[in-house]
This record gives sequence, structure tokens and C-alpha cells, in this order.
Amino acid sequence: MLKEPKIVLTGDRPTGKLHLGHFVGSIKNRIKLQNESDKSFYMIADIQGLTDNASNPQKVRDNVIEVVLDNLACGLDPKKTTMFIQSEVPEIAELTVIFLNLVTLARLKRNPTVKDEMKQKGFGEDVPAGFLCYPISQAADILFARANLIPVGEDQLPVIEQVNEIVDTFNRFYGETFTKVKHLVGDTPRLIGIDGGVKMGKSLNNAIYLSDSLDQISKKVMNMYTDPNHIHVEDKGQVEGNVVFTYLDIFDSDKEEVFKLKEQYKNGGLGDVVIKKRLIKVLEDIINPIRTKREELAKNPEEVMNILKEGTRKARISAKKTLKEVRKALKIDYF
Ligand code: TRP
Repeated sequence: MLKEPKIVLTGDRPTGKLHLGHFVGSIKNRIKLQNESDKSFYMIADIQGLTDNASNPQKVRDNVIEVVLDNLACGLDPKKTTMFIQSEVPEIAELTVIFLNLVTLARLKRNPTVKDEMKQKGFGEDVPAGFLCYPISQAADILFARANLIPVGEDQLPVIEQVNEIVDTFNRFYGETFTKVKHLVGDTPRLIGIDGGVKMGKSLNNAIYLSDSLDQISKKVMNMYTDPNHIHVEDKGQVEGNVVFTYLDIFDSDKEEVFKLKEQYKNGGLGDVVIKKRLIKVLEDIINPIRTKREELAKNPEEVMNILKEGTRKARISAKKTLKEVRKALKIDYF
């Protein structure tokens, strides 16, 4: 039997610059997978970005270039990954309309990720229909390309589950057309915020951005929550729930040294400033090369837009092919 080709697809909403949570949750996997797959796609999800920014299209437009720069600066390579804009592939919208009939309102309202986001944005019953339905359009984002491996952060898992339900229903109604998709979460599926909050998020105001300057990184780390009872250097400190140590565990490659520092902190005799300074250096070592490359790329925005233009052209070829098969399966292939 022939092995199924490995087709990777992932995307970002262009609603703000990307942060360390995106980096450890999915960007690192994108970079790795572009070398290990048969095909790889990266999508700017501008239509999805508009689902909760309908009155502010300029925000979405302005952030298209920002998220592309973030990804390119981290090492996404347009020679290996087809980078494209969602709205410029209208077949995705067409596929979304077809999928809308395969999902109930009750199911949409049950999606825990959407529920959380609705709560955070204070939508209640006044949620825009497009927002509630974004998992359906996300199914179309993935399935038009026949992608089967999706690198995402942990928060996206309920969306992927819904995509697979759509695959099942579609195949049951219209014959075997799509295959199920798998998710891949990073080593740190969910990064806590610099305020110790459960999740780093741009709307939560607790993020360190991949484009932050050393000065911004320093200020943010210096304000991090450690152990409120660790007042004097000689006091015994707690490492559990201590944001600085949580970050060192994730980002510091010298695990042995981090272990030693933890012991010293617990026994007393290690000041917060020492560990914060260490974390600043660790983060700057990660972000500095990204920031530098980002600044370089930002000098030529036309070149960046050309990458998207070429990628979109390629993505559309796959989309047209899939839609032809879908139309046939639905018996709407009239002429
Ligand atoms: N919903 C994703 C996010 O908020 C972005 C996204 C849109 C996506 N379409 C996708 C991710 C398809 C993976 C595959 O981060």
C-alpha cells in the first residue's frame, strides 16, 4: 500500500504580533516539519481574524505583514512552505459554506475553545455568527489542501477535533473524500503569561513578543512575579508557581545550572534579581537573532508580499482541484 503523503498546514490570525507562546506552541514545529513533510502550507487567516474584528479591517490588514515577518524571522522558508493569504483563496469560503450544513448550532456552542474566547471577549449571545463558526472555516482551511498534520498550540485541540467530525460526516454523506487530520503540539503546548496567568495572550497583556527590544524584555522580566514571601536574599524561596523559574525551565538550555539555582533559591541565599538577569539573557539570546532578521526583512515589504502572492497562486491550484472533487461528490457539478 502506498504511504499517505505528509501534508502540513498551519496558520495565524493577523490580529497582532506573535509572542513566545506562539513560538514554543507551534512555530518551532512548523520550522521543523517543513523539512520533514511532503508538502507544507502556512496561512495568514485574515478572514478568521475578521470574525471578531469586523469593524476594524485596518487592524487585520496591518498585521498581515507583522505575522509573516515573525514567521520568516523564525525560519519559515518560502522555498519549502507555501505561504498564502486565506481571503485570496475563495475556494476556502466555498468549502466553508458546504461544511456549514454538517455541523449543528449546539455543537458549535459546545466547543470549549470558542466558549473560552467568547467569554474573554464578552460576547455572550451577541457573538458574531462568523466567530461561532470559525472552527468550520478552519476545517475548510485545512481540508482544501488535504493537509493531515497540523502544528498548533494546545488551545486549538478542540477545533481539530471538530475538523475530524466534519471529515466523518462529509465522508458518510458524500463518499470517502477526506482523511482525518492529526495535530502536533510543541514541547510547551501552553505557555503561562508573564503575570503568571494560565496563558500568554496578546489580548491578555501578558506577552513577550518575538519583536520585543532588549529593553522591553528586561522590563517585563523585572516585573515578573516570583515568590511573594521571598523578600530578603537569605529567605527561603519557592520555585513552584514562580514565573521566573517556570520560564527558565522552558527556555534555559543549561538544565543542570537551573537545577542548582533552584536548590539555592529553596535553601535561601539567592536573590530574585540574579535569576531575573539570567532569564533576560536567556530570552535575549533567543529573541535577538529573530529580531535582527525581522528588521532586515521589514526593509523590503514588497518582497514579503511577493512571497505571499506566489504562495497564494500555488495554494489556489490545490484548492481548485479539491473543490472540483467536492462539487462532484455533492452532485453540484452541473456544467
Ligand atoms: N485558529 C488558529 C489560531 O487562532 C489560526 C488558524 C486558522 C489555523 N486556520 C488554521 C491554525 C488552520 C491551524 C490550521 O491560532
